[in-house]
Amino acid sequence: MGTEQVAICNDRATGMRAVIAIDDTTLGPGLGGVRWMPYPDQQAAVAEARRLARGMTLKNALAGIPYGGAKAVILRDDDGADRPAVMHAFGRFVKRLGGAYVPGVDMGTTIEDLAEVGRVAPDVSCDHEDPSPWTALGVFAGIRAAVACLDHPDLKGVRVAVQGAGHVGSALAGLLAVAGADVVVADVDDRRAERLATEVGGRRISTEEVLTFECDVLAPCATARVIDHASLRRLSCRVIAGAANDVLADRSCAAELAARDITYVPDFLLNAGGVVQIHALRSHWSTEQLRWAVLGIGDRAGHVLERAAASGHLPVEVAEDLASERLGRSVTIPA
Ligand SMILES: NC(=O)c1ccc[n+]([C@@H]2O[C@H](COP(=O)([O-])OP(=O)(O)OC[C@H]3O[C@@H](n4cnc5c(N)ncnc54)[C@H](O)[C@@H]3O)[C@@H](O)[C@H]2O)c1
Repeated sequence: MGTEQVAICNDRATGMRAVIAIDDTTLGPGLGGVRWMPYPDQQAAVAEARRLARGMTLKNALAGIPYGGAKAVILRDDDGADRPAVMHAFGRFVKRLGGAYVPGVDMGTTIEDLAEVGRVAPDVSCDHEDPSPWTALGVFAGIRAAVACLDHPDLKGVRVAVQGAGHVGSALAGLLAVAGADVVVADVDDRRAERLATEVGGRRISTEEVLTFECDVLAPCATARVIDHASLRRLSCRVIAGAANDVLADRSCAAELAARDITYVPDFLLNAGGVVQIHALRSHWSTEQLRWAVLGIGDRAGHVLERAAASGHLPVEVAEDLASERLGRSVTIPA
């Protein structure tokens, strides 16, 4: 994949183990979240960090912000970990990279965690504001654009299945419900899904059901690579558009989705609201400026889908091309 730098971090004092992958710094320091999750081994953590870092390169380039792509994963061992100590240890490794990596929140980490990392590392994002509502707004705008391409003038009565009732999934479900969509929610945490479904006047479905649920839009807002060649054949949606990074198990799934007449809106295009908010905070934008920039994700999604339809290319190829133009070289999602 040509990752610029991979740092394997082992802190002997705390036992903290992490991987930091910096994919590309053409446009600026690598900006990307820190994931804190269990991994079977270090190799799996390296693979995940590198794939996710590539997605960040494409996302930041397409969003037009001055950052490269990077990602970190901390290997979660047990739930009894001393959280601040883990974050301090991680921060010391970030510091060694001399500003080439700017960490932010991701699955398993919180703004409090990033504030701890920031006590040691020179530059962090998401240490005082959660970007998730902005990520959700960008995904919402993208879904609206995608269903418009299916001749739905608005979201009234559009059936959306949201996978993951976490930070982004819950904010997204709220926006969709206000816009009149018919929302169903699934989460491995049944109570969380139930609570959200009640809040938005929707229905909870099981995590097994969500991928096969008959709907207009499937919005993956949980883990990576939920669409593989096996799950793909059982899909019953017309559009896939969500917040989760690295949704496709491999690049060839994009062509198979198109062959099944399912529109896949690339995750790295849709879920940029959070990084745009990070850039806005660091550049002292007004909230109105930020809101317009995030809603612009919908226009970009519409443009990509139209260009794909007109050219016969896949939406993911069009989005990669647009990002590559800005990077000055061809960059694609992982094979
Ligand atoms: N938070 C952001 O601003 C942001 C920005 C860009 C991309 N993303 C991506 O969006 C996704 C969600 O992020 P988040 O911040 O909401 O995370 P989160 O940890 O707050 O929520 C994830 C939710 O998914 C649930 N979940 C996990 N595995 C599941 C499964 N197999 N089926 C159903 N539910 C499952 C979890 O229980 C949790 O409720 C992640 O892939 C993240 O990388 C988030």
